[in-house]
Amino acid sequence: MDRLEKAMEKARQARGAPNGASAQGYADAMAALHATVDVAEDILDRNRIVAHHPRRPEADIFRILRTQILQAMNKSGFKTLAVTSPRYGDGKTTIALNLALSIALDLKQTVLLVDLDFRKPMIHELLGLPRGAGLTDCLIDEVPIAGCLARLPFERLSVLPAGAPLDNSSEILGSPRMAALARELKTRYPDRLVIYDMPPVLAQDDPIAFLPHVDTALVVVRDGVTREAELKACLDMLDGAPILGTVLNAVAHG
Ligand SMILES: Nc1ncnc2c1ncn2[C@@H]1O[C@H](COP(=O)(O)OP(=O)(O)OP(=O)(O)O)[C@@H](O)[C@H]1O
Ligand SMILES: [Mg+2]
Repeated sequence: MDRLEKAMEKARQARGAPNGASAQGYADAMAALHATVDVAEDILDRNRIVAHHPRRPEADIFRILRTQILQAMNKSGFKTLAVTSPRYGDGKTTIALNLALSIALDLKQTVLLVDLDFRKPMIHELLGLPRGAGLTDCLIDEVPIAGCLARLPFERLSVLPAGAPLDNSSEILGSPRMAALARELKTRYPDRLVIYDMPPVLAQDDPIAFLPHVDTALVVVRDGVTREAELKACLDMLDGAPILGTVLNAVAHG
């Protein structure tokens, strides 16, 4: 058993999850859990998920951002985007989710939002969903992706939650299995855009392990929090990765 297989086996045992043989039954049970779920407006509001409102100024800001991002991606034929930042709490998940919503709802473009923060998965929480099966189940227990997708009441937007948290995430993110899965997500529906919500670059090696599998990355910077030296260190770490641009989050007005 090589190191990765051992890591996966350890994760399986720690999770007490089924092995590959019973994966289908597990996927079916989880698919039932994930059958179209309701998303409560007050939970979205509390979590700053605003992009679905037709006339809110915050939603307009996401419309501007998504148009800029899509123009840049279309120009280069990019289909997959990772959202990362220098540090914890810069606003990556909030921006990734709002961006995905904004693109899917207004532009008639299908979007798959993938939670790739295996240590601290948050996408399902921001949507107020229970933690069901997710990507780690696809990777470790070979549960089919279709059994792990959360079906939301938003047209054209699918969410692939992270699943059970993992400690040895960068090993798995850099594995051949993850590479194959990323390829499958990118190619299964040629018109679909895939957005990956990632952990921070200066705190974990996950983004560096995974970025070879995305077309491009967006770096979130938090106004008044991210220091210039941190942004520089982050961009240095990502040296060679195709960076689409940076987004300045939480700008103070006044
Ligand atoms: N523009 C904003 N204004 C005010 N608060 C914000 C803004 N963007 C995000 N937040 C809040 O900041 C906190 C961190 O945001 P979020 O979880 O999106 O960051 P993150 O970069 O994904 O964090 P982590 O590195 O832990 O994954 C959340 O409570 C979120 O609601
Ligand atoms: Mg996050």
